[in-house]
Amino acid sequence: MAKERKKPVAIITGGANGIGLASAQRLVSKGFRVAICDIASDAIAAAAQAIAATGGEVLSLVNDVRSHSEAQKCVASVIEAWGQIDVLVNSAGISQPKGIVDITEKDWDLVMDVNLKGTFNWCKAVVPHMLRQKRGRIINISSVNAHTGGSPSAVSKFAYAASKAGVLGLTRGLAQELGPHITVSAVCPGLIDTQLTAALVKKRGAAVEEAAPLRRVGKPEDVAAVVEFLATVEPNYITGEVIDVDGGLWIN
Ligand SMILES: NC(=O)c1ccc[n+]([C@@H]2O[C@H](COP(=O)([O-])OP(=O)(O)OC[C@H]3O[C@@H](n4cnc5c(N)ncnc54)[C@H](O)[C@@H]3O)[C@@H](O)[C@H]2O)c1
Repeated sequence: MAKERKKPVAIITGGANGIGLASAQRLVSKGFRVAICDIASDAIAAAAQAIAATGGEVLSLVNDVRSHSEAQKCVASVIEAWGQIDVLVNSAGISQPKGIVDITEKDWDLVMDVNLKGTFNWCKAVVPHMLRQKRGRIINISSVNAHTGGSPSAVSKFAYAASKAGVLGLTRGLAQELGPHITVSAVCPGLIDTQLTAALVKKRGAAVEEAAPLRRVGKPEDVAAVVEFLATVEPNYITGEVIDVDGGLWIN
């Protein structure tokens, strides 16, 4: 009798809300078991409940991506529960709206620690398992601001853009280092309607609808669809790639 194939496992940081949650739900609908990690303990419980209600297998891990040792511990607990990690989606992130005159050293360190070091922490934690498995896909959520530096009206300014540009460098460097069995790619969302951007969408949504060739503000599902593609496409000949999901707002 043919051996039953185990369901693939995805870890999603920032999985309690927005793009991370939509990605977790999308991957569950494609047969994945998902471990969602987030600092927001209430939201993560609600997200896990919503995923389980659709029949999904879910682990919830309350975690601060800034902590190197916590990432190691969380990954060890996923391995203990499910024995494998097929996909890592790094979606945890924060904005930083201050300009150079107002920003403090503490503000700079925080956005770098969450957005860039957090991505490093989780890549570092999963890679030994992916190397052992000779299989793995890492998908980092960056931002179109990494290319543009943001616009004067953007929710975030230069420090956020710098952290997200760092994520692109990390993505490309790891893609070179981790082939042939592990792929590393990035997704750069434009303006997507989530709790992170709610105020901006209210203020600037109409302008984006007018300016973007696709004439609407993005939804978390728009990004999740691309995450699913990168997580599942077969055969796969893509690594180190950066995909913009911004309705064509920034066409380079
Ligand atoms: N919404 C947009 O327009 C947009 C555009 C470009 C890029 N992004 C990026 O997409 C990713 C997801 O953003 P979103 O819009 O879904 O926002 P969101 O606020 O809905 O989700 C982000 C999640 O990250 C979690 N998080 C924050 N700090 C954390 C920490 N230290 N440790 C663990 N979890 C933490 C939050 O609790 C939240 O659940 C972020 O990296 C963001 O920078 C979003």
